[in-house]
Amino acid sequence: MTTLRILRAAAWADEVAAAFVERLQATPSLRVCLPTGATPIPAYDALAARIERGDASFAQATVILLDEWVGLPPGDPARCDTRLRAQLLDRLQVAPAAVHTIEVDAPDLDAAAERHAACSLDLDLVVLGLGMNGHVGFNEPGSFPDSPTRVVRLAASSRESAMARYGAATVPTAGFTLGMDRILAAREVWLLVTGERKAPILRRALRDPEGPDCPASYLRRHGGLTVFADQEAAALLG
Ligand code: PGA
Repeated sequence: MTTLRILRAAAWADEVAAAFVERLQATPSLRVCLPTGATPIPAYDALAARIERGDASFAQATVILLDEWVGLPPGDPARCDTRLRAQLLDRLQVAPAAVHTIEVDAPDLDAAAERHAACSLDLDLVVLGLGMNGHVGFNEPGSFPDSPTRVVRLAASSRESAMARYGAATVPTAGFTLGMDRILAAREVWLLVTGERKAPILRRALRDPEGPDCPASYLRRHGGLTVFADQEAAALLG
């Protein structure tokens, strides 16, 4: 079943944070996969504030990173691990019990993908942003529900966005993503979508037949999908 939560833009971040706190309270040992990108930033701000005031704790939780650039050096400002630390993890007074970033600096990336897939078994929750082309993580168009955790070739526009949007020092050579198979196997999936520019792709993902042109459309076959959309992003859902 898909739960669609359409929220006022001003309330969106706090509603997402409140729902996350509820999950942490119910399951302190939550195993959660988290994205970066621009969309979750206000929700992470609100979540960090709630954690700071003691609503819940990550102390027993395990955090798994959704995706990563390949070819950027450790510490690069565009790296997803750098950004997740800055946007959320470094702001928690008590660190999560475990944080699994992605071993994109390993010599054997296929082996690294197997390890990331192994540590992403048994996820309670996967949180996702929605790409303008319908991707989730780096499961780009052409991905299928059984697409595994893997290194993916990125569109030129995606590679360039690492520099243009996030200030990467160099152009990444590839992407590394949690597979659609692991996303769809999680107990719960949240899709975070804000802003008018996402309205057409959100409509495509939720209203048209599922298909590989829009990997996010496969999320509808998950029994526990919640879409947190602001009113602007939801404007074309009818
Ligand atoms: P955004 O990216 O949150 O920065 O819009 C989402 C995505 O491309 O996955």
